[in-house]
Amino acid sequence: MGNIKFVNENKEVIAADGANLRLKAMENGIDIYKFWGKMTNCGGYGQCATCIVEVVEGLENLSPRTDVENRKFKNKPDNYRLACQTLVNGPVSVVTKP
Ligand code: FES
Repeated sequence: MGNIKFVNENKEVIAADGANLRLKAMENGIDIYKFWGKMTNCGGYGQCATCIVEVVEGLENLSPRTDVENRKFKNKPDNYRLACQTLVNGPVSVVTKP
């Protein structure tokens, strides 16, 4: 079990092992999408790349980057993740809409 801290929102939520980061955010009223993402997001299938978060602590407690993420984030720092592709296995802190 791990806590997910949403830094910008100053909110901490509890997550069971293997919880999906995008779903956890949505369940807890955390808005991970910018304007266009709200209208056009793919619903968590790793297609739109609008659910980006920056992991500021606990990167090692997340599932490894998927192939989709490796493609989308070729020129981005290692701590950028697609929330919908990320499973939480321990405490993390994330920044939404980096
Ligand atoms: S919601 Fe579309 S890539 Fe994550």
